[in-house]
Amino acid sequence: MIKNLKEYKKKKKIFLDLNKHYYDLNRPVVDDASYDTLKKDLINFEENNKDIIGDNKVKNIVGYKPSDKFSKVKHDENMLSLDNAFSSEDISDFYKKLNNFLNLDLDTRIELLAEPKIDGISASLKYVNGKYTQGISRGDGNFGEEISENLATIKDIPKVLSNSFKGELIVRGEVYIAKSDFKNLSEKFANPRNAASGSLRQKDSKNTSKIPLKFFAYGTIFKNHDIVEKQSDFLKILKDFGFKINPLSKIINNEHELDLNYKNIETKRASLDYDIDGIVYKVNNFKLQQRLGNLTNSPRWAIAHKFSAEKGISKIKKIEIQVGRTGALTPVAKIDPVNIGGVLVSNATLHNEEEILRKDIRVNDTVIVQRAGDVIPQVVRIDLTKRPKTSKKFIFPQKCPCGFTTVKEFNETTKKYDAVRRCPDKGYECNLITKEKLKHYVSKDAMNIEGLGKKVIENFWNLNLLKLPQDIYKLDFNRISKLEGWGKLSADNLKKSIEKTKKINLDRFIFSLGIRHIGQENAKILARFFKSINNFKKLISRKDQIYTDLIQLDGIGDTQVKSLKNFFINKTNKKVFEQLISQLTILDHIFSKKGKFLNQTFMFTGGMSKMSRSEAKKIVENEGGKVLGSPSKKLNYLISGDSKPTIKKINQAKEIGVKVLNEKDWYRLIDF
Ligand code: IVH
Repeated sequence: MIKNLKEYKKKKKIFLDLNKHYYDLNRPVVDDASYDTLKKDLINFEENNKDIIGDNKVKNIVGYKPSDKFSKVKHDENMLSLDNAFSSEDISDFYKKLNNFLNLDLDTRIELLAEPKIDGISASLKYVNGKYTQGISRGDGNFGEEISENLATIKDIPKVLSNSFKGELIVRGEVYIAKSDFKNLSEKFANPRNAASGSLRQKDSKNTSKIPLKFFAYGTIFKNHDIVEKQSDFLKILKDFGFKINPLSKIINNEHELDLNYKNIETKRASLDYDIDGIVYKVNNFKLQQRLGNLTNSPRWAIAHKFSAEKGISKIKKIEIQVGRTGALTPVAKIDPVNIGGVLVSNATLHNEEEILRKDIRVNDTVIVQRAGDVIPQVVRIDLTKRPKTSKKFIFPQKCPCGFTTVKEFNETTKKYDAVRRCPDKGYECNLITKEKLKHYVSKDAMNIEGLGKKVIENFWNLNLLKLPQDIYKLDFNRISKLEGWGKLSADNLKKSIEKTKKINLDRFIFSLGIRHIGQENAKILARFFKSINNFKKLISRKDQIYTDLIQLDGIGDTQVKSLKNFFINKTNKKVFEQLISQLTILDHIFSKKGKFLNQTFMFTGGMSKMSRSEAKKIVENEGGKVLGSPSKKLNYLISGDSKPTIKKINQAKEIGVKVLNEKDWYRLIDF
């Protein structure tokens, strides 16, 4: 409850700042629920004090306008994020994935370089013939903001490299504020990272220069890998060039060394003059990094090992059931807001029904909540000594709020029933799932419709403006322009951003459909396979042959095929799909226009000794070729690995005149 105008003004300022972080800086500093509570309090106050408040009501603020202060620039190579590891199992898993991809023995431990993960803001710097020419923020990873001048004010960033370097060099690193310097800024910003982000995005670089920003250089892009062999050598080069590099990096050869280093740095953490939130492990050898390559959002060759989460104590006020896009019912504890490591937390996940039962979590319990990085906060423990005598066991609802009786699915692999209860919606029957699907459809990695965020979807849904994805293309902008908080300009902008995204790549479109088990990587595999929306459309017919072909694709398994079948069996899904494709221009999947395997098709059988199937496939695709699942007239090469090739496939291929190469021929073909 806001008591007076002074408090209202103060809180409104905070609200505007939160908005800015959410919409402009893309880095929310509080969770959605805390944001909502604050907004509700402000609006309540406005409602009750109609005469004092002017035009600029919180009620009318839809979202912070995306910044047009800086021009957008495409990164030479995407700036990715890192996958997280929280436990030794996650680390073993990382090693396993590396070995699998590189086809090494499972107990091989390739050399890694461990570096502290600086909790700052990443930046990419361009040098041409040794001169600093451009500095870009991370932005959405693909396009960043040109903040050359602001970055130039940072003393740690050399304007001319000490050693002459011919050609273009990209240096990536982290901008941060020292803890000691932050002391003087703590009134204005919640934490050093926030302060760094705010200062970097000053319109006038004079304002940036007033803030003591620092920079640690940590890397480059694939294109510059030929300078030296290893990441550790590259850091030395960076130092010679005049950059500051973090002094705590260390070569790691096995789990034991990794563990020691992790513990050592964690103990040092508090005494360092900059915030770190974990250790980054990078495959040290650049050639191996290149072979491993990237997934959609993170490199395969690196992982962030996060420090243990920060904890806080609070009280559960209510347990709510949230329904996700895949129908999973997740219990969420609404807790008294508590500040954990600089972030105000008022929601914590309770995972699933079994977790509540096992821990006997109840409303009014005092709980320990933990938060690690950008992961959803969770309730880890209950303080039973504080449990009120009157408290009652929480009864988990057996029904989805939409009315459907929920189910626990049987997992064929583990031969057990899932812990998660799901709404059995098959296609847009459950309102809650539908809303989540809509949010997914418009989201950044999917159709990426700017201005149509989660809150706007909720709002339009409540106003009946939008019920299914195709309604987005029939929105009544005249009506929208008259809605509270909107106007002609914002409605026009929304219209424009919808129009802009109507031309869409096939893989993005497939991902946008929100088919269960079809994530970004699977969507790419499907797009590569089907090439065009017309081919993909054949899935509607649900002919067995298509699914037989699909299952042979690397990365597509029974689960995905079953899910695609279930999706296309449903009438509403089919209707949504058909209406969407009639509204959109879905671009054919583009195979690399250059490369020595342009328009050539390959198939693999048997294992190879020097590389995994995934890597071989990636090489074909990077060179413009395609990998087929079964021999056909369209096939150019069948590569037969030395280990257990399928003779039947080889014979079949030979019969139809396909060139069959052995493992050695293959290595020769790709200069490996
Ligand atoms: S390497 C992902 N090394 O962490 C591409 N990143 O969560 C390789 N970061 O956006 C990044 N310290 O801004 C790398 N020593 C370090 C780092 C580091 C901090 C940041 C970076 C990245 C984020 C990923």
